[in-house]
Amino acid sequence: MSVAADSASDRLVYRREELLESGRYAAPLDAGGVRCHGGFDDTGAYRSPRTIHRAPAIAAWQARLARAGAPLVAIPRELMPPQYPNVEQSVLLLEHGVRDPIVRTLTIVSIVEGFGAIIRDVRVPDLAALVVEPIEGTALAHLREGLFEAHARDESGWKDEGGHKQMWEAARDLALEKPKVPGDVLLRMMGRQAARRRPERPFPQLDETLERMLALMAQVLVVEVFAEGTFEWGMRVLGDPRVSAAPEAAAAMVGHIRADERPHVEYLRTALSEIGARTLRTVDGGTLPGRTVVDGLLHRILREITTTRPREQRDDLRESLVEAMKTAPNPAVLLEAFDALETCWSPPAATGFEPAAAA
Ligand SMILES: [Fe+2]
Ligand SMILES: [Fe+2]
Repeated sequence: MSVAADSASDRLVYRREELLESGRYAAPLDAGGVRCHGGFDDTGAYRSPRTIHRAPAIAAWQARLARAGAPLVAIPRELMPPQYPNVEQSVLLLEHGVRDPIVRTLTIVSIVEGFGAIIRDVRVPDLAALVVEPIEGTALAHLREGLFEAHARDESGWKDEGGHKQMWEAARDLALEKPKVPGDVLLRMMGRQAARRRPERPFPQLDETLERMLALMAQVLVVEVFAEGTFEWGMRVLGDPRVSAAPEAAAAMVGHIRADERPHVEYLRTALSEIGARTLRTVDGGTLPGRTVVDGLLHRILREITTTRPREQRDDLRESLVEAMKTAPNPAVLLEAFDALETCWSPPAATGFEPAAAA
């Protein structure tokens, strides 16, 4: 059962247990005393959990799409909003002993990772009945057969193994030496979530369960791609010896999480591309090109997230930031220096998934 043996194959059908299989590790991953998923091979290289079959399976499904001449969905990196506070701002705060905003940001990230487990609760409709073309041997056919479950386990841990939630907490605690975590982080996040209204359905002619599942997959794909900015930020801040108590270990931990996200991005874009290459049945007996639906959903989500996320990250932090700065010798000067380092960014005018572009 080696990765090499499988990666050379073009096998398209897998059992659920196979997609959840991690294989053997020479050494486990320990995150601040918490046994986590994944581990190290004989050469000391990190290998992500549940990838021994999942990784070659995704590669085989992507190769099949390529053979059919179907494009693979790609989210443009220039749409990725900058992290707030950015690396320079974060280092500045930590150098002045203002740790609360960074601890808060890292705690939000760990909580969001844990929320990722909701993917296992997504209802998967009878895809074979709702998609005109056959779906055997695709990522789509394996969503319920291991892909969603593997994703959920990676994010929030499984049984006695920690996942990304615990790994981010460990990176935070290593770099900032087990800081005091503000007690209101989760509450504030919940408040904002509750204030969101459910958007109206963009494709009411589709089966509602199908539409919801595809919308969630598109949303998670965008979040996973944009998380790359958070990983970059985390590795640079927590890996900075000027402000981190364990620069190597903390940055390595974030690097392991980052590696684990690859299969998430890849299976989601594969399954959405498979839909994009097919035809969907509508509830009134007609059909709709899958491409119209996938592009429409991605456009909507990208527009929403690129305009609201920078503001939300700022709002999350701003109030507590000013409060936390009061511990610095000269808060006004520090705030001015902090604001001067802010990244100027506005979302690009087009997402690349506009209905006209898809036509
Ligand atoms: Fe994650
Ligand atoms: Fe993920």
